[in-house]
Amino acid sequence: MNQLTLLTRNGSHQMPLETDQTIVSIAKKHKLAWGYACERGICAQCRTHVQEGAEFLNEITEAEKLRLRKAERAEGYRLGCQIKVICEGNVTLAHRPY
Ligand code: FES
Repeated sequence: MNQLTLLTRNGSHQMPLETDQTIVSIAKKHKLAWGYACERGICAQCRTHVQEGAEFLNEITEAEKLRLRKAERAEGYRLGCQIKVICEGNVTLAHRPY
């Protein structure tokens, strides 16, 4: 069964996969501490490291290209307010603010 795992400083949280919702929205819904302020790709408080399942996520957005350095993106960093799961698969994401 496909699942979404969100790693926060409070531990690991497993939940059923939900598509077409941002990771920040999902974290809010499950009351997880996943920092956010703008939800527009500007503040980077939602900075996220993709640990598993990058192929099941939407493409990197223009906002992420502007906010994150190319080297960070190459290492798997994205923004939680921009990431959406778009198809079924196991996905593991870690909240990694600066
Ligand atoms: S909430 Fe501000 S960049 Fe994601």
